Amino acid sequence: MALQCSRTCRQYLLHLAHDNIDFRLPEIKALLSIQGKPFDPSENFKEKSPFLRLNGLSEDNIRNIMGRTVCAKSAFELWGHGKTTDELKSSLLKYPSERMLPFLQEESTYKINVYTFNKTLVFQDRIKKIDALNFLPFKGKVNLKDPDHIFCLLEDYGTDPNNIPEEPFYRYFGRWIADGQRDLIRSHSVKKRHFIGNTSMDAGLSFIMANHARVKEHDLVYDPFVGTGSLLVACCQFGAYVCGTDIDYNTIHGAGKSSRTNQKWRGPDENIRANLRQYGTERQYVDVLISDASKSIWRREALFDAIITDPPYGIRESTRRTGSHKDIIKPPEDFCGESHVPVSMEYRLSDIFSDLLNFAAHHLVMGGRLVYWLPIYRPEYCEEMIPLHPCLSLISNCEQVFSTHTSRRLITMEKTKEPAVCVCALNVFLCVCLSSVCVCVFPCSAHV
Ligand SMILES: C[S@@+](CC[C@H](N)C(=O)[O-])C[C@H]1O[C@@H](n2cnc3c(N)ncnc32)[C@H](O)[C@@H]1O
Repeated sequence: MALQCSRTCRQYLLHLAHDNIDFRLPEIKALLSIQGKPFDPSENFKEKSPFLRLNGLSEDNIRNIMGRTVCAKSAFELWGHGKTTDELKSSLLKYPSERMLPFLQEESTYKINVYTFNKTLVFQDRIKKIDALNFLPFKGKVNLKDPDHIFCLLEDYGTDPNNIPEEPFYRYFGRWIADGQRDLIRSHSVKKRHFIGNTSMDAGLSFIMANHARVKEHDLVYDPFVGTGSLLVACCQFGAYVCGTDIDYNTIHGAGKSSRTNQKWRGPDENIRANLRQYGTERQYVDVLISDASKSIWRREALFDAIITDPPYGIRESTRRTGSHKDIIKPPEDFCGESHVPVSMEYRLSDIFSDLLNFAAHHLVMGGRLVYWLPIYRPEYCEEMIPLHPCLSLISNCEQVFSTHTSRRLITMEKTKEPAVCVCALNVFLCVCLSSVCVCVFPCSAHV
């Protein structure tokens, strides 16, 4: 079957950027699943390789991926591949000529690029490699500036910069189809952003989060810890309407001290709306409110297509919530009594995440995604530490390492069940009770 497919099915090659490595495949998988397509990599597929061969897709599927991805640089229709030049040549000669010929016509122009991963070749060596492809029936004229068709020889010299082989481990040749959206990372850099704060999320990671969340045009996306709205900026770029909440008055109103070194106070128009205006997406701004994420202000309904957030870890901003000092035990979720005194008290990390999952279970549409960052102390990390919820399936868990001891993990979950459940607060731990089974979001002594 695999042999038959290699002759009859088109294969596409994605050239992935060599940063945010852990986040790349979940991004591609999410962008495939938006199109209802499974992730079907070739055999010999390696997670850390910058080259990813995909089966079972059309050129339109690939163009749709490239229209969104910030993890892939370019995509090609793969015409041949192999470990050696001979293997590459015989693979290319087997490629059905009816698929090649439309791009090799006399009246069309073309150019061939050579891309080498983990090795720099001098100009002469590149020309030699191009000349070695002269068995292909190119009939058109070369045009380096504005060709009708672009082809690329891609060579993989491994990932070890201290051990670069003479010859590549693997070679690919294909027709270029499209580039990804890496330019968004530069154009949306927080360095050039109108309104920023100490914890504004990096543009590349914000787009990755929006892609993991499968944010689409006309979706309604919510960030409960919105800060300066970096995640909303990314979601708007993909056509979503956005809203958010934050406990901090100054952040929501764009007031107070500036995070810029050369500026003491924030200017009059430094706010999230102005950020969206900067990128031409102001019409997708719904609103942001001052609100404490531990006390839901929303009607108990599936309101959001995606919830995407970066909760406070207590490192660069404190983890606070509103509450009375006497009110150490959390009141029931539906309690919104008049007697509530909004003084500030500690918001435990475990409560932040159990509240977030529980909120997502109630307020996401079915199939909607929750994407959030979880801080990790690496020496103690194990997968069981990832908070779970009976209504949310874990989709991906990607690490961004800060140091040998600290990292954060980008967790993506999908709502797969309606919470026909009773939710009870047991001491300070939130447990979700399903008939007779009680599942603790964080293990507590009463339920381990
Ligand atoms: C890591 S920052 C989010 C940064 C944001 N993604 C950005 O790009 O600017 C966390 C935010 O959570 C807010 N926050 C802290 N405790 C909160 C609470 N109990 N409810 C709502 N927001 C809270 C903080 O004010 C802070 O703006």
